[in-house]
Amino acid sequence: MCGIVGYIGNREAAPILLDGLSKLEYRGYDSAGIAVYNGEQIQMEKTMGRLKVLEELTQDGATLPGTAGIGHTRWATHGSPSDLNAHPHFNKDHSIVVVHNGIIENYIKLKKKLQAKGYEFLSETDTEVIVHMLDRYYNGDPLDTITKVMHRMEGSYALGIMFRDHPNEIYAVRKDSPLIVGAGKEGNLIASDVPAILRYTRDVYFIENEEIVKLTREGLHFYNIDEEELEKESTHIDWDINAAEKGGYEHFMLKEMHEQPKAVRDTLTPRLKGDEIVIEELGMTDEEIRSVRKIFIVACGSAYHTGVTAKYVFEGLARIPVEVDLASEFRYRNPILESDSLVIIVSQSGETADTLAALREAKAKGIRTLGIVNVVGSSIAREADNVMYTWAGPEIAVATTKAYSTQLIAHYLLALKFARVRGTISETEFTAMTEDLRQLPEQISLLLSHKENVQRFANRYLAAEHIFFIGRGIDYAISMEGSLKLKEISYIHSEAYAAGELKHGTISLIEDGRLVVAVLTQPELYKKTISNIQEVKTRGAFVMAVTTVGNTEVEKVADYVIYLPETNPYFTNSLAIIPLQLFGYYVSIGRGLDVDKPRNLAKSVTVE
Ligand code: M6R
Repeated sequence: MCGIVGYIGNREAAPILLDGLSKLEYRGYDSAGIAVYNGEQIQMEKTMGRLKVLEELTQDGATLPGTAGIGHTRWATHGSPSDLNAHPHFNKDHSIVVVHNGIIENYIKLKKKLQAKGYEFLSETDTEVIVHMLDRYYNGDPLDTITKVMHRMEGSYALGIMFRDHPNEIYAVRKDSPLIVGAGKEGNLIASDVPAILRYTRDVYFIENEEIVKLTREGLHFYNIDEEELEKESTHIDWDINAAEKGGYEHFMLKEMHEQPKAVRDTLTPRLKGDEIVIEELGMTDEEIRSVRKIFIVACGSAYHTGVTAKYVFEGLARIPVEVDLASEFRYRNPILESDSLVIIVSQSGETADTLAALREAKAKGIRTLGIVNVVGSSIAREADNVMYTWAGPEIAVATTKAYSTQLIAHYLLALKFARVRGTISETEFTAMTEDLRQLPEQISLLLSHKENVQRFANRYLAAEHIFFIGRGIDYAISMEGSLKLKEISYIHSEAYAAGELKHGTISLIEDGRLVVAVLTQPELYKKTISNIQEVKTRGAFVMAVTTVGNTEVEKVADYVIYLPETNPYFTNSLAIIPLQLFGYYVSIGRGLDVDKPRNLAKSVTVE
């Protein structure tokens, strides 16, 4: 999704904007641009393509002198990727300039009105209506002009705006798109995400919906849509700056996979206190936990897959019925939510548009909501009734790895807590399971240390056209994630099937040499899945099996076996995902692809 950066201070703006944009590359983009006020006029450069094209074009910012500016990386929604559609966008006399993240839903209507008034449009973007509207309503007072335009726009937006008449000010505003403000010693900044400004400040303000910020060299002023000044508290970000850098690894994805033992430990240990699970952020008494009759888990992509796993864990351990929904479906299906339901919203970024909308849908119906979120202070974290953070740290690669792993941990902790409070597992089981949880970080490290074996195997499949993943129960949930991991970064067609479903259609796709990845970690289902492996083997498939150590029977049917350390069957996904992530990663780099920024994808999907 688009990335926004803005800076006003004592230093040259352009290099800071380019640096900030480079930290937002992970969001996915197709073009980039910056606009800088040089004291007399606002100068702009923008181009299709990678940031390095913009860097070359501006000689690393040197051709755009000035100490106030805004920058943007665009992920096309309205209009194809092109120089003209890239941001920033000017009004007709270049006295106002805008960068935008989001979608203006009523832009066609607004565009027609503006055209009727004689405004000419140079791009196909929805953004251009914003700058022409600002021009139309401009009355010398930027704040008043911005609020007039806000009243007329529908949709989502984070905006950075500069007015030529106000050389010492930058304005920013947000509604349903992420935007933060940083207060630095040498200047003030805006950005779509924290990594973009960490080098300049750690004091950050989270902007709420329909709030407006005026940034000057000296300070920050916050307003609501009624133009009333607001007091806001800053948050100190104490991330290690290296956490947002590659730290010697070739790719963010590789680095983040290796951070999983720590991320899992950080999410787990503060909540495992003695022989208790303490989740203070849950905000529920034991009585309230006992009164929950149904859980809905709502999320997108990989976060949804953690929900599919969680369904088995919650139902198995705590005996509560669970429905798992894709957020884009949940928000429009008018789900039957009773007052004794709990809606768990899962999101790494905390900004995914569909997930946020699903949260609001549940809240509007008066249902208790719990967010499992990674990004502190994100929209979902702020809007959910309660938030349980996954302490994965900043995740930059588009393909999620460590955030996924920590979401699983959050689900396990909740399910165990619920099971204990509701009396559906014994003390002995509870103690044994918490002990198994404590072993996971070490076990994940062990699996990561065997990465070369997975790489050797992956190198044999660089030219594959289709790869299938099969499993039953929890192993089906992990197959879904393994398949997504592979296809999103390798562009190889892949699907996951519940192994028992093969015979109902899919098996016709199996032919000589087709790779089938079979996951079988569930003791009660081993034999069933072994039969399914036999079925695909008979039809010529090459089978890689992922199973638990000791299950040597599988060697009789599979061509290649990866063994996982032993853990409780409810937690096996935390281990099985490691070789599957590594497999996707090595296939992607073996094919020479941009593994951290796969085509067409964005890290944070802030539009519907
Ligand atoms: O930030 P979120 O967790 O809400 O994002 C949800 C999905 O967009 C995300 O998990 C996506 O599927 C990843 N690219 C998968 O690697």
